[in-house]
Amino acid sequence: MSDIHIDGLTKQFDDVTAVDDISLDIDSGEFLVFVGPSGCGKSTTLRMIAGLESITSGELRIGERRVNELAPKERSIAMVFQNYALYPHMTGAENMKFGMKSVSDYTDDEIDERVREAAEILDIPELLERKPKELSGGERQRVAIGRAIVREPDVFLLDEPLSNLDAKLRVQMRAELLQLHREIDATTLYVTHDQTEAMTLGDRVAVLNDGQIEQVDPPQVLYDYPATRFVAEFIGSPAMNVVPIELHGDGDGVSARHEAFDLPLPDAGDLAGHSGGASLGVRPEDVSLARNVDGERWTFEAEVSVTEPLGESLLLHCLIGDDEIHVKAEARSEINAGDVIELGVDEERLHVFDESGDAIYHSSPRERTAEDVETRAEH
Ligand SMILES: Nc1ncnc2c1ncn2[C@@H]1O[C@H](COP(=O)(O)OP(=O)(O)O)[C@@H](O)[C@H]1O
Ligand SMILES: [Mg+2]
Repeated sequence: MSDIHIDGLTKQFDDVTAVDDISLDIDSGEFLVFVGPSGCGKSTTLRMIAGLESITSGELRIGERRVNELAPKERSIAMVFQNYALYPHMTGAENMKFGMKSVSDYTDDEIDERVREAAEILDIPELLERKPKELSGGERQRVAIGRAIVREPDVFLLDEPLSNLDAKLRVQMRAELLQLHREIDATTLYVTHDQTEAMTLGDRVAVLNDGQIEQVDPPQVLYDYPATRFVAEFIGSPAMNVVPIELHGDGDGVSARHEAFDLPLPDAGDLAGHSGGASLGVRPEDVSLARNVDGERWTFEAEVSVTEPLGESLLLHCLIGDDEIHVKAEARSEINAGDVIELGVDEERLHVFDESGDAIYHSSPRERTAEDVETRAEH
């Protein structure tokens, strides 16, 4: 079995704490994505799991084995990097089998057979005799992935493997990686700074910030129930709108007050006792033009400052008081900068964060099992 147990993993580089007490269990066969901004500790985490970086403190187990002190080749892992790391003077096949002797007991014939199989899986048999300079970026990355597959690792580690590819090829390779994962079924840890890539690939996504895990959840749960303001603003594009509010409670319930609105929050009784600052989050697609909404509806005014046609929708930058919010309107809507419009929000899709950035309210109740959830440790 190749489940992975990360317990209190920490990496200190002199005065920088690159990874700060991360704990996480990853199931055998799971595809887990680490996502976060540059410098948040993604690569360092992966390199500690690979054995390329020493562990300052904490324990790392793969299956039942503690691997903290094991050399990389004893961990049954294979790693793919952003820059491919192929040897320029070797052909694709030579690159794929290089070093295999030292990590396995296979004969030369068996290794050749495995290289052929990996090339079949990746659909690159014709690339085996070419050298890296005769390959495109996407082809090089396939060879680098092939090199990892040949090792039949229990754990597959990938660090921004698609970042050097152009946008179209990235989308294609994403689909191929998913298919590959289904075929080889290795536990896969994947690092990216790209939230779209994280959302499309991960069974679960771990959002990292400043060396710590903010939240680990399936993609849709992260999107619908961000545990923190950081996750709310990092996941989703265009980003969630977050504006400062005051929570005001009376006999009728709790409302979110802003200079531009006083919005009743459904079933927000728990917030009545909240003191201190708060902010309200709502995604651009959950704000709509009030005139498109049937029936009675709570609305507020906004002034359009910029319109951005996105093709499938029209993104409006709107001013409400001193705050800017983004609104996704229908493509070809006749709205121009300077217009004053009426907006309504989907009251099922509101989020409230406290001063520290923790989510303290989601207007849509969260119906899921406890196992799905692993929010960040106490802050
Ligand atoms: N070898 C190193 N020596 C000192 N600091 C490092 C080293 N490697 C990474 N760091 C620092 O650790 C932090 C996390 O880096 P990294 O794991 O590469 O982030 P990410 O992959 O998320 O961009 C950064 O502040 C980085 O500067
Ligand atoms: Mg990195």
